[in-house]
Amino acid sequence: MPSVRRDDVEQLRATAVAVVHQVGELVLRMRVAGAGQVETKTSATDVVTVADTAAERLARRLLAQWRPDEPVLGEEEGGAGPRPGGLCWVVDPIDGTVNYLYGLPWYAVSVAVQRDGQSLAAAVGQPAAGRLWSAARGRGADCDGAALRVSGATRLELSLIGTGFSYRSERRARQAAMVAGMLPRIRDLRRAGSAALDLCSVASGWLDGFAEHGLHRWDWAAGALIAAEAGAVIRLPHCGSDFLLAAAPGIVDALADLVVQCGADAV
Ligand code: IPD
Repeated sequence: MPSVRRDDVEQLRATAVAVVHQVGELVLRMRVAGAGQVETKTSATDVVTVADTAAERLARRLLAQWRPDEPVLGEEEGGAGPRPGGLCWVVDPIDGTVNYLYGLPWYAVSVAVQRDGQSLAAAVGQPAAGRLWSAARGRGADCDGAALRVSGATRLELSLIGTGFSYRSERRARQAAMVAGMLPRIRDLRRAGSAALDLCSVASGWLDGFAEHGLHRWDWAAGALIAAEAGAVIRLPHCGSDFLLAAAPGIVDALADLVVQCGADAV
């Protein structure tokens, strides 16, 4: 991967933050007015609200203005793949759409910029709480200006682990079996409904680890960089596996082993 100058990643971070800020304001305004019309995507439970569509359009408009000619991959409109060596913006306009639909405050706007599949800068905003996490590769991660550090967990049996579930019922049945295997071996499990915020929670030390199978790039591109820059060890989806794991260094191997024992890396 070509090297990136420090000033450049900080500039990219500032752009990601500015997009998340403006899109977050729109998403919050639209939520106050109600979730509005809802359509379904891959299954009856996989929803898209009018706010998802409007938010992604705004993100694309801002990026076209500030970063012309750089491709955008978004949850709602998709997008062409990046050119090798070129930058690509990855946008999830609302991560945690089901929470948004029900009025639960745990939803996020997530924006990352990647080169050759590696995130260089990222921002995740939680509009309902007014929080904003951001990171730049090699420059650390913060939440509203406060530097972040993952938890010092060293014992898996005392660790709080986050996860999430697919919208497809046959995969969910296998994920339930994985949860049954993991639950007796950890402190407890959380399923909060936004992978981007789960990863920011690992960065903030609110979770000791996070593991989920079947995430899309827009779900993790920003949160994984924020967690990594806060000191988490990340295992990204790779060829032949779409399993993502992020954890404090003291438990990552034990968590990875447990996940394999429960068959969770292959669900
Ligand atoms: C979903 C959330 C959820 C995760 C699902 C994702 P969406 O994204 O991140 O926590 O478990 O796998 O699809 O649909 O709310 O953008």
